[in-house]
Amino acid sequence: MRWLGTSWKMNKTLAEATAWVDEVGAGLGRRGWAEDPPVRLFVVPSFTATHTVGDALGPRSPLLLGVQNAHWEDAGAWTGEVSVPQAADAGAGLVEIGHSERRAAFGETVATTRLKVAATLRHGLVPLLCVGEPEEERAASAAYVRQQTEGALEGLDAAERARVLVAYEPIWAIGASGREARPEEVAEPIGALQALGVRAVLYGGSVNEANAARLLAVPGVDGLFVGRAAWSAAGFLALLDIAAGA
Ligand code: PGA
Repeated sequence: MRWLGTSWKMNKTLAEATAWVDEVGAGLGRRGWAEDPPVRLFVVPSFTATHTVGDALGPRSPLLLGVQNAHWEDAGAWTGEVSVPQAADAGAGLVEIGHSERRAAFGETVATTRLKVAATLRHGLVPLLCVGEPEEERAASAAYVRQQTEGALEGLDAAERARVLVAYEPIWAIGASGREARPEEVAEPIGALQALGVRAVLYGGSVNEANAARLLAVPGVDGLFVGRAAWSAAGFLALLDIAAGA
C-alpha cells in the first residue's frame, strides 16, 4: 500500500489545523474511507498543534500523527526541545527527522539524525528520515543519500531498519524556489535507498497534483511526502485520489 503524508512546516493556527482535519475527515467519509483508506496517511503539524490535531483526528482516524522533530534524550535540560516520549504523550506516532531545512538552518547532522532515529525506535514510534542532496551534488545523488541514510541507520539491526520510513527530498526540488524533479532524476537515488532494507521510500519536493502520478510511477517510490500542495484539505484529498488510483 502506498503512503501519503504532509508536513505543515511552521504554518497553521489551531483553528486552521482543526479545519484541515475536519475537512479531510469529511472527504475520507465521502469516499467510504473513514477508517480504512487504500493509502497509508500521515500529517505532521507544528508542535503547538500536536494535541489539538490528535483530538480532532480521534481514536479511529486512519491518519498517523507526526511531529517535525524530537530530541534524542527522554528528558532534561534542553531548553526549547521536545522529547520523543513527550511527542508520544501528546498523541504522535511518527517523528520526522533530518529535514533539509533543519540540517541547513539548525545544525542537524548525520550524527544527530542517528541519535533521533534510535530514540524514536526505542519508544516505538515511526521514524521518518528525510535525506536529499544539494544542487551541486545532483550528479552523485544516489551515493550522497545512501551515505546520509547509512549514517543515520548505523547500529540498527534488520528488524529495526524495517521500521524506518525514508523520504528522498532533493534540496533543489523543495519549496517555492525549488524545481520539479523529473522521474529519471529520482530513479537512481530511490533505488539506492530501497536497497537499504527500510520500510518504505517516499518522494518529496514540489509534489503537486500535476506531477504526483508521474513520480509515483518511478520504480521504488512507495509514496509521497508533500508540503505546499497538501496544506489545503482539498489538495491533500486530490493527492490521495491520485495515490489511490494511479
Ligand atoms: P514542498 O515541500 O512540497 O512544498 O516542496 C516538501 C518538503 O519540504 O518536504
